[in-house]
Amino acid sequence: MKALILAGGTGSRLRPITYSMAKQLVPVANKPVVEYGIEAIAAAGVKEFGIIVGDTGPAVEKAVGDGSRWGIKITYIPQSAPLGLAHAVSTARPFLGDDDFVMYLGDNLIKSSVATLVKEFEQYRPAATILLTPVPNPSDFGVAELENDRVVRLQEKPKNPQSNLALVGVYLFDKRIHDSIAVLKPSARGEYEITDAIQGLIDSKLEVRSHIVEGWWKDTGTVDAMLEANRLILEDLEPGMEGTADEHSRIEGRVWIGRGTVVQNSVIRGPAVIGANCQIIDSFIGPFTALADNTRLTSTEIENSIVMDDCELIDAPSRLANCLIGRGASIKHQKGMPKTMQLVLGDSSSVVLP
Ligand code: G1P
Repeated sequence: MKALILAGGTGSRLRPITYSMAKQLVPVANKPVVEYGIEAIAAAGVKEFGIIVGDTGPAVEKAVGDGSRWGIKITYIPQSAPLGLAHAVSTARPFLGDDDFVMYLGDNLIKSSVATLVKEFEQYRPAATILLTPVPNPSDFGVAELENDRVVRLQEKPKNPQSNLALVGVYLFDKRIHDSIAVLKPSARGEYEITDAIQGLIDSKLEVRSHIVEGWWKDTGTVDAMLEANRLILEDLEPGMEGTADEHSRIEGRVWIGRGTVVQNSVIRGPAVIGANCQIIDSFIGPFTALADNTRLTSTEIENSIVMDDCELIDAPSRLANCLIGRGASIKHQKGMPKTMQLVLGDSSSVVLP
C-alpha cells in the first residue's frame, strides 16, 4: 500500500492567506494541516508517500521534508495544472505503478484511524473504499447514495442531492481505478473528477465499499472550517510548559507554551497552544487559540483564533475573536487624535468591525 497526498490546488476560499502560502500548510494548533493526514497514514504502516504539488510545491517540500521524521519516504510529484483529483492520480501513475494506494486530500482533517481501513481493504479487496459523513450542505461535496450499505450512485456537487452523505477526502484504491480514470471526460467545472471515476467502477459492477466516518471530519477550505478544525484539535491538546510565566499570570486549563516564551501579567485560558519565543504581556488569550512562534502580544485580548509566526498584536482596542492572521501581520492601536483606522490589507482581505 502506498499513499498519495494531494497538496496542489489554489485555496481560493482562504485568500489572502493562500496568496503567499499553500492551503495545506496553514497551521492548525500550530502544525501544518497536511501533517495530520501524513501522520495518520504513517501510523497505518504505509512507508512510501507521493505528494502531488502545484505552484506552492517548493514551500510544501521545505515544510514537510523527506519524511524521515516519520520513518517514511516522500516523493514530490508536480502536477502541471490543477485539473482535478483524477488527473492528479494519473499524474502519479509512474510513482503508484500497479500498487494499492490510499489517497488523502491534504486540506482535510479526519479523526478516524486509517489503519482499520487499510486492514479491511486488504482483507476484502474491493476496487475502492470511500469514506462518507452526513453534512448539512451536501451540494458542496461529492454525494453518495446507498442502498442497504451498498454504494449505488455518486455525484459530484449535485444541485439536487439525493442524500446528505458527503465524500470525505480519504479513498483507498487498487489498480483498477486507473482504467476508470483513462476514460473520464472533464466535468462541468472542467476537472477530471475522482467521484466520476469511482462511479465508473460501480458501472462496471466492481465493488465499492463505504464507511461512515465515526470521528469528526473537516474540509479546511474556508476560514470558519479552519477555525473549527483548530478547535477540534485543541480539544485533545496535551498541556505543557517550556516557557516561563510570572506570578501575576494565570494559566487555566489545557495550555501548551513553547520554549523561550515569556508570559507576564496575563491570563491564558485553554485549550490554547502558544509557540516558541513569544511575548505575552498584559494580555488575555482565550480558549481555542493557536499562536505560532515569535509573536508579541501586549495589552491585547484574543480568543478562538489562529495567529501565524512573527505577528505583533499591540493594544488592540477590543477583543479579537475568530481571526485567521497570516505571518508577520501587525495590529496596533494609535492613541490620540484623530481617531482614524489605518488598514493595509492584501487582496481579498476581510475585516469585521464591532
Ligand atoms: C473534493 C471532491 C469531493 C469531496 C471533497 C472533500 O472537492 O471532489 O467529492 O467531497 O473534495 O473535501 P473539492 O475540494 O475539489 O471541491
